[in-house]
Amino acid sequence: MAPIRLLALALAALPCLAQYSIQRATSPITIDAKLDEPAWRNAPSMGDLTFNWYESGEKEQTIAKILYDDENLYVSWYAKDKNISAYEKRRHGPVSKDDCVEIFISPNPAKPANYYTWEINAIGTVLNRNKSDWYTGGPTWEPEGVEFKATFQGAEKKDESPDDDHWIVELKIPLRNFARDAAHTPPLDGDEWRLNISRIGGKTNPQLSTWSPIPPPSKTFHTPTAFGKVVFSNPPTQQPRARGPRRVRFNPAEAKAGAELYNRSCTMCHGLNGAAGDRAPALGAQRRYLRGTSEELYDAIKNGIKGTGMPGSALPEADVRKMIAYIHSLRATAVDVDTPGNPARGAELFQTSANCAKCHMVAGRGGVLGPDLSNIGAERSLAALREAVTVAKPLPPRGYQPVKVVTTKGQTIIGLLKNQHNSSYQILGTDEKLHLLLTSEIKSIDFQKKSLMPIPALPAADLDDIIAYLSRQARSRR
Ligand code: HEC
Ligand code: HEC
Repeated sequence: MAPIRLLALALAALPCLAQYSIQRATSPITIDAKLDEPAWRNAPSMGDLTFNWYESGEKEQTIAKILYDDENLYVSWYAKDKNISAYEKRRHGPVSKDDCVEIFISPNPAKPANYYTWEINAIGTVLNRNKSDWYTGGPTWEPEGVEFKATFQGAEKKDESPDDDHWIVELKIPLRNFARDAAHTPPLDGDEWRLNISRIGGKTNPQLSTWSPIPPPSKTFHTPTAFGKVVFSNPPTQQPRARGPRRVRFNPAEAKAGAELYNRSCTMCHGLNGAAGDRAPALGAQRRYLRGTSEELYDAIKNGIKGTGMPGSALPEADVRKMIAYIHSLRATAVDVDTPGNPARGAELFQTSANCAKCHMVAGRGGVLGPDLSNIGAERSLAALREAVTVAKPLPPRGYQPVKVVTTKGQTIIGLLKNQHNSSYQILGTDEKLHLLLTSEIKSIDFQKKSLMPIPALPAADLDDIIAYLSRQARSRR
């Protein structure tokens, strides 16, 4: 019994972390501080916030919710508040003096101290910080592509008023802002992040409240060890069948005609060229789809999708077929399309003069520093494949961060940071050996800015051949 009791004691001593399961958005979301879409209505609330440092006055609650899709994280706050005031208009100003909502996000649960913050007041002024160990841009941060709206967005100021009842903030953050720390963007089913939601400020009842409680003696929201746990949920019943390397046949000429029809008839809701629009999801690019087969697509386009904004269409059958070919072409991976180039010559170059096999394995042969490319033709579109070998990534992706470590014993290890926990680092050396180092054994660690993936200076014809070869790498074709 004794060990069990000890375990129970150890657990009791841990801070009590809030938990929440982040669901996929079930409908498109418009950032208008209204929260009237089905997606928000169906989303579970995160639960009551805790008043960690309560002294006196009314405890006004907040309903917070988070959703996600393949491109974005969505956050909403509905703040009960009988005395709303806000005055700060300067970007990155001290908005937390006003009525203000906040979210602090750690995309890597092994490193909660790498976190990103949004603080937004009732008139829609935002302060952003990036507290990660790799960020060198100073006290504030400019995230990419963020959209938000607060109830009193744009007002010169907001004074307390007898009519005050509540205010809302709706926020959309492209997931690419978290690519450096998250295991996957978009997250996979079961991925865990850490975060906290909070509220602060205003003149009357300026209580501080947080979703995940902050245990004493800490007096600050900036306590990542107390951030709650969130798990992304995408149950298999809602997942379309795996796209895998299943080959979808389509006629390129038909697809081209379909593109024109689509851009003429469908872009009042869907985006141009298959991207996401204001009122409907993307039909192409790297995301999961509900409808994959030609039959399913035909049904959706001809009859519409009940209970959603997707209308039926009176277009002739032949035109619908062309649009289906177009949608297939948008979703195709490299193995699905014809590529210029000679794959046999590409295989030869890959192994010999182009030196790719030094770092990449294909079918069990080659090096281990780069990703295994045995299934790359089924995982990436042709455009993405070409980009991978012609454009250097702005930052090394997670799992491929080059580091140079000097140990306390004076040994130097150069390699890729594969995993990092509170007290240890796992490094795959350029010698292809795995090194496990305790923090206490490390004297210094340098994070290199450039990925190990060299952008090869090859003649165009050689590049075409190598891409043709890689595009054929798909484990099981049908
Ligand atoms: C009035 C707005 C609107 C118009 C016009 C519209 N759509 Fe849609 N469409 C939607 C919405 C909203 C959805 C998402 C429905 C859902 O939540 O399942 C959708 C979904 C779809 C889907 C299903 C995507 C998937 O993988 O589940 C297809 C295919 C589609 N639309 C094709 C078209 C085509 C082709 C046209 C032009 C003929 C078109 N749509 C015009 C609003 C629209
Ligand atoms: C010195 C080691 C090294 C060599 C040589 C190398 N690569 Fe890479 N490659 C990497 C690493 C590491 C990554 C992952 C990080 C990144 O994408 O920047 C990568 C990524 C890639 C990817 C993207 C994989 C994906 O999952 O999207 C492709 C495709 C690729 N390499 C092809 C090639 C080809 C073709 C060559 C030869 C012309 C080559 N590489 C040579 C190390 C290497």
